[in-house]
Amino acid sequence: MRRRGACERGQVPRFLQKTLSTKLKRIVKPELLDELPPDDPRALRSRKDLRRVNRLMRHARIITEHQATLTPKPAGGRIVELGAGDGTFLLSVAQRLAPRWPAMKAVLVDQQSLVDAETRAGFHALGWEVDTVKADVFDWLRSESSGGNQVIVANLFLHHFSDQRLSGLLHHAAAKARLFVACEPRRTLLPLTVSRLLGLIGCNSVTRHDAVISVRAGFNGSEVSALWPESGTWRLSERPTGIFSHIFVAARQS
Ligand SMILES: C[S@@+](CC[C@H](N)C(=O)[O-])C[C@H]1O[C@@H](n2cnc3c(N)ncnc32)[C@H](O)[C@@H]1O
Repeated sequence: MRRRGACERGQVPRFLQKTLSTKLKRIVKPELLDELPPDDPRALRSRKDLRRVNRLMRHARIITEHQATLTPKPAGGRIVELGAGDGTFLLSVAQRLAPRWPAMKAVLVDQQSLVDAETRAGFHALGWEVDTVKADVFDWLRSESSGGNQVIVANLFLHHFSDQRLSGLLHHAAAKARLFVACEPRRTLLPLTVSRLLGLIGCNSVTRHDAVISVRAGFNGSEVSALWPESGTWRLSERPTGIFSHIFVAARQS
């Protein structure tokens, strides 16, 4: 007979599963990468780390799966990434979507100007246009006039903001979006523990610092849904995904 709390061979013991999924209080603090000049060698190295971390967390695949529910190609023909960084994340999403969504326009919004010629060429090779916008997302969302038919994505970005600021951001995004998909860190002990071990795969001090801060500012349960505006008809879904991540999807009902 098996003892209570014991497990099959090869499974994580139940007490450990419970400990690792322990929820933590949300704490939002500034991240180094947002403050370093774009050409600072530590920032350049950290963005390289970020590309690797994105691949390990499989966020491009996760985000694509949720957009692919919109087939055929969305009427607006535009996909916007808020806080797009160097644009390589949206490029890997575009590479997955392009066979179903040809000739889209990708709009990359970030407070820093980071998209290089190679990344632009990557979009063009797919037959997509690309537009880069250097702006604070709050200003951009307020001034943006392209109607409510856009696909908007955010990857490792919403966690930068306090609930109050995030509520404002989501309010503006909802007015512009037909589909909004965000993939963020999950705020539990397992991702926090792993974020403290990123040095083992060679991540630099900026990435190690920001990773811990990002998990502490990440999400759980239906925290993002609670901040989404109630106006309009939206189908919301929010849940843990992968080992370290949390996904939020808002789809406008026609
Ligand atoms: C962790 S990086 C993620 C970049 C990209 N989404 C990715 O997955 O590679 C967060 C990005 O958000 C940008 N950012 C932070 N606050 C912003 C704001 N208020 N407006 C525009 N961009 C912002 C930073 O410059 C940075 O490039």
